[in-house]
Amino acid sequence: MPSTSSKNHLSELRSAAPIVLPSLLLCDFGNLEQEIRHLEDAGVKGLHLDVMDGHFVPNMTYGLTMVSTVRRLTELPVDVHLMISNPQDYVTQYVNAGADLLTIHAEAVDDPCPLLQQIRSLGASAGLAINPPTSVASIEAALPLCDLVLAMSVMPGFGGQAFDDVALSKLKALRSKVDEDVLLEVDGGVNATTIADCGEAGAQLLVVGSAIFREDDYNQSIAKLTELARSGR
Ligand code: DX5
Ligand code: ZN
Repeated sequence: MPSTSSKNHLSELRSAAPIVLPSLLLCDFGNLEQEIRHLEDAGVKGLHLDVMDGHFVPNMTYGLTMVSTVRRLTELPVDVHLMISNPQDYVTQYVNAGADLLTIHAEAVDDPCPLLQQIRSLGASAGLAINPPTSVASIEAALPLCDLVLAMSVMPGFGGQAFDDVALSKLKALRSKVDEDVLLEVDGGVNATTIADCGEAGAQLLVVGSAIFREDDYNQSIAKLTELARSGR
């Protein structure tokens, strides 16, 4: 089970769901602290950090120093999405850097179970992500060890891609298979056109990048997206 603090984050997120989680991929990294304050002022309930290694995905972003920097800048739950190969070599460091929720990709490991258990034993909440081509059936054995399951609606690596609605049927299937305490997350191409369907399909954490960071007013875009996510419930 997750640690007390992580369980608190989980219960806060669960009770506030559906939640729009800004993905720090397209934000202004030159003014990171100001960006985080703007997001806090807009009432966000957590931050999604996209760690990419240029190997598991064809893009590189940031790593441990970014996670620890964000950890230092905010009290909000930090949801770290590891789009990396060999995540087993790094989970301890990412939890120690400040990840409250730490998500690995099923496609990056032979068996996610030991790693999910390790993330929990380190005091963080354990997440498992599946890409659009990966079936829910293929991760069924790991579901009891998940605090969060992420159904990707794009192939990971870049913001601004088109939403793949295969995630919607997966979210519905996952809801019927996991405990009610398990958080369901969707990530990629979530915007004003697609977010209501995600809410209706049962997504509780809705990761949004370009639909927030390509707008000037974060407050307005997050409020609108949250309302649309709720409308689909
Ligand atoms: C893609 C990332 C997503 C992405 C979301 O690999 O995991 O979090 O940044 O960006 P948008 O919302 O623009 O698709
Ligand atoms: Zn992500």
